Amino acid sequence: MAEEINISLDLSDEEKYKLVLENAEYLINKHEPVITGLSNICALLNQTFEKISWVGFYFFQNEVLYLGPFQGKVACTQIPIDKGVCGTAASKLNTVIVPDVDKFEGHIACDNSSRSEIVVPIVFNGKLFAVLDLDSYKLAAYNEVDQKYLEMLAELIKTNLDLDSFILS
Ligand code: SME
Repeated sequence: MAEEINISLDLSDEEKYKLVLENAEYLINKHEPVITGLSNICALLNQTFEKISWVGFYFFQNEVLYLGPFQGKVACTQIPIDKGVCGTAASKLNTVIVPDVDKFEGHIACDNSSRSEIVVPIVFNGKLFAVLDLDSYKLAAYNEVDQKYLEMLAELIKTNLDLDSFILS
């Protein structure tokens, strides 16, 4: 189904996230492939937040994070579990907020203009499934508000999509 979603760019981040969650609720479902749902989640976030320079998922398999659906420039295709911001969030199973990527040792620069980043792990049935990664060209673009709502979005992804059926290749 084609959907048109227009969330005003004038709203606060919190108001935008509430509408993102409301829209994601019916945008993603268990009757369509996981990749289909996650692709639209990337588009929904990207079209709603001007601060996003890149948004996407990396899927976890055999200790490596593999590039999944995303919006933005061409990106690194593989990230080892303990490398970069993504690998750190993946190995700690915690959200990682990086206000200044130049001050994060081991940051992997897929785009040299990137200044800040947030990575949210998606843990399903006790195992890491993927991470959701958002970058920005602005310093300190992401904070606890982003963390709260992106973690809620991760919960919605687990509820609304059939992650059990997902096969990476
Ligand atoms: N910066 C990330 C790599 C992925 S790109 O930002 C798309 C990291 O340090 O893990």
